[in-house]
Amino acid sequence: MTSPAATAVAHPNIAFIKYWGNRDDALRIPMNASLSMNLAALSTTTSVEFRCDLQQDDLLIDGQSAAPAALQRVSAFLDIVRERMPEKQHAIIISRNNFPMGAGIASSASAFAALAAAASHAAGLDLDETALSRLARRGSGSACRSIPAGFVEWLPGREDENSYAVSFAPAGHWHLVDLIAVVNRTHKEVGSTAGHALAATSPLQSARVTDCPRRLALCRQAILEKDFAAFAAIVELDSDMMHAVMQTSTPPLLYWEAATVELMHKVRTWRSQGLPVCYTIDAGPNVHILCQQQDVTQVEGQLQQMAAVQAVYRSGAGGGVQLV
Ligand code: PMV
Repeated sequence: MTSPAATAVAHPNIAFIKYWGNRDDALRIPMNASLSMNLAALSTTTSVEFRCDLQQDDLLIDGQSAAPAALQRVSAFLDIVRERMPEKQHAIIISRNNFPMGAGIASSASAFAALAAAASHAAGLDLDETALSRLARRGSGSACRSIPAGFVEWLPGREDENSYAVSFAPAGHWHLVDLIAVVNRTHKEVGSTAGHALAATSPLQSARVTDCPRRLALCRQAILEKDFAAFAAIVELDSDMMHAVMQTSTPPLLYWEAATVELMHKVRTWRSQGLPVCYTIDAGPNVHILCQQQDVTQVEGQLQQMAAVQAVYRSGAGGGVQLV
């Protein structure tokens, strides 16, 4: 029998305390806890239909047939859902992003969060938020943080059962804005899955992981107290520590470009001149510039004057995954 299709919408998230390196690569159990905010303005909508007449999974992303590597990753993820289905059927998966895929904005978190919710519902599984977060984690670690709403903490755990994300403040708690300054639209050469596997080769990783509970507690407290100065200091430190690990791995990963470093300097200059702003950078050259709602116009004005900035995407805090 063919079951009805299910559709879900999820937002990507930006980590303020970063996830880098796994205790278990296959299960994506992280070495350290992480903390993030969902991005309301960006979303992925995915529908899944399991059908008895298909010989293999069929994946469409933004109206195009997906590349073999993407299909393979999604099929491997759906196998986890299929293990729990009485009849193992293949699926048609149709996914759309409201932001351009090639814009240099990571979409795997929203992609696997939406896929986890749509596929589990289509399969007739009734998963609570924790179970859904654990499932999304298997597709992309950071996807587990796109399941709960607003400001989210990923409790790292040590095995599958206790590695999932929880919300610690709703989206409306603090009007924080992420301005994503795109300096390069091309796809990164070393993706995060391969990058996580290199983290342990850096002599700095153990120091980063050991100090993580302290940074995370400071960051959570800064968010709960809406203390931007404390937030800025710890968010930049955490991003710089992750990039120090990346840059000292074997082989080394250098995601920064000249324009990335130019933006890092600019943000620090603006802050020293009294503008409350800070940066964080993921596994790519683009810079996430964070500020409070009341300062957005001024920060955006500064960014527009920079020749190196090709585009700016703006988002406040968003909700969790939703079935539609
Ligand atoms: O979920 P992944 O495997 O794409 O890893 C995400 C890694 C970073 O974006 C660099 C950090 C993070 O915590 O989101």
